[in-house]
Amino acid sequence: MADVVFATPELQEQAASIIARYPSTRSALMPLLYLAQSVQGHVSSEGMREIALLLDITTAEVEAVASFYTMFRMGPTGTHLLDVCTNVSCKLRGADELLACAKEALGPGCEGVTEDGVFTLHEEECLGACETAPVVQVNFANYDNVTREQLLDIVEKLRAGEEPPAPSRGPLPKDFKEASRVLAGVQDLFASTSSAASAASAASVTSEGGGAG
Ligand code: FES
Repeated sequence: MADVVFATPELQEQAASIIARYPSTRSALMPLLYLAQSVQGHVSSEGMREIALLLDITTAEVEAVASFYTMFRMGPTGTHLLDVCTNVSCKLRGADELLACAKEALGPGCEGVTEDGVFTLHEEECLGACETAPVVQVNFANYDNVTREQLLDIVEKLRAGEEPPAPSRGPLPKDFKEASRVLAGVQDLFASTSSAASAASAASVTSEGGGAG
């Protein structure tokens, strides 16, 4: 059977390098699910079949893991995934209003994929940052203490293809597929951010040096 998801030599090499990280091949299951998700924007049945073959386990075992964790999307997903936590701490700090605000801003169908294909909205359980509730994630990057205005600003910028405000910690993946590549361990956003920062800093030093001379 021809590979449908890991269809290119590059993807096959990445899958092989993920498997090689672990003493037991089945331990590569979650990163391979992220890799499959980075290709199609969700985990498809073809992807699960290919992973099962690669790891010599059953498709049912792959599906059991993929369907358990909410980070894996089992159906079509927009360019950006917007998660709103509505667990207790966030609920007490206005999460229900934020969720309603997100639904209104994104429009009908947003819990699947919005008509323009840009968003999927997901109501999430605790995101592990209760002390900064309410919390919203964009492509798995946390925004803390989010207000209605901030949420609308993030949505507006993403919809317009502009850079949204920076998340509360770490860099923001450019889209859901990139976030999945990062979680598969085949892309390092921190490295690209720090090399961009080094280049900017070097350019600034050079230009300052030129001015002084
Ligand atoms: S309840 Fe929302 S981050 Fe914990």
